[in-house]
Amino acid sequence: MTKYIFSQLVLNWYHKNGRKDLPWQKNKTLYIVWISEIMLQQTTVKSVIPYFKKFILNFPNIKSLSDSKLDDVLYIWSGLGYYKRAQNIYKSAQIITEKYEGIFPNQFLDVIKLPGIGRSTAGAILSLSLNFHYPILDGNVKRILIRYYGIIGFLKDKKTEKILWNITESVTPIHNTGKFNQGMMDIGSSICTFKKPKCIICPLNKECIAKITQKWEKYPLKNIKKIYPEKIAWFIIVKYKNSILLKKNTEQEIWKNLFYFPKFNNKKIALNWLKEKEININTYKNMVSFFHKFSHFILHIHPILITIPYIPKFLKTNKKNIWYNLKNPQHIGLPQPIEKILESLKKDIF
Ligand code: ADE
Ligand code: SF4
Repeated sequence: MTKYIFSQLVLNWYHKNGRKDLPWQKNKTLYIVWISEIMLQQTTVKSVIPYFKKFILNFPNIKSLSDSKLDDVLYIWSGLGYYKRAQNIYKSAQIITEKYEGIFPNQFLDVIKLPGIGRSTAGAILSLSLNFHYPILDGNVKRILIRYYGIIGFLKDKKTEKILWNITESVTPIHNTGKFNQGMMDIGSSICTFKKPKCIICPLNKECIAKITQKWEKYPLKNIKKIYPEKIAWFIIVKYKNSILLKKNTEQEIWKNLFYFPKFNNKKIALNWLKEKEININTYKNMVSFFHKFSHFILHIHPILITIPYIPKFLKTNKKNIWYNLKNPQHIGLPQPIEKILESLKKDIF
């Protein structure tokens, strides 16, 4: 099959079935498409939609983003996960303000230098918004190409990746690049799914190796199942009236710049910390334990609630400690599990 036909099949399919009215597809400026593409990394369209709307409402352009505080951006991002993305967006906004007079660059080599943007995302931004001729290669596109061409390789393998970049370059049409790329992503997420691809309705089914050989399970090769390491965190939730003690994490990479409860490796250290702060530990209460999945490990969370009658001098508000008001919450970034605990505490006071 020639490359003309491959792209034509995808484009015809896109015209009939592709998504054209997602919130970021109405006014496809570089800014809008950039924010949506960063949000869509590692996250489904469905989960992104409400966050995208809220983000654009609060930060309608680069100026409003670069004029705001990082805490405000993380506040809007709270719950979406992979917070590094929000920090990269914030950093990029500063760079764009300083280097490009506040206008999102339209040159590939400038775009790809921004933090959080790799070759595929840069290609997606420029092709979807300006129809520039750049191929993409996200997880969806990789899966389609591996199956279609019957490539024996792992999704994340560098060698396979190199082969796939050459293929995506060769099948991506010069005209209608944006529509083609969107079509590939849509086929990947709705038809050529990881499990049980719907080959019957796929526009590529005539010459797809995985379909013809009826062996789509073989493509892509399954990654060797990883066993995720497990970690434990004891959180002490210090409650004074309607306020909760939170600390800003400025040191650890995970949850950087987000706020969470004082965190400890085991219960003994946690209770010792309370004693050190001259808090009477007789009244603490274990809350329900639960776990949170990160991309590389699982965190078992054990929250302990302690209500105090006054704020000891060690815990006054300062640069790192804040008293989070459950009735009138400050605008700060909160990791998903912390937000969950705070929500349950809010229910108790209303
Ligand atoms: N994943 C990444 N970008 C996407 C897009 N523009 N549409 C659907 N899924 C995507
Ligand atoms: Fe994927 Fe099936 Fe389409 Fe091949 S025919 S690209 S395996 S959905």
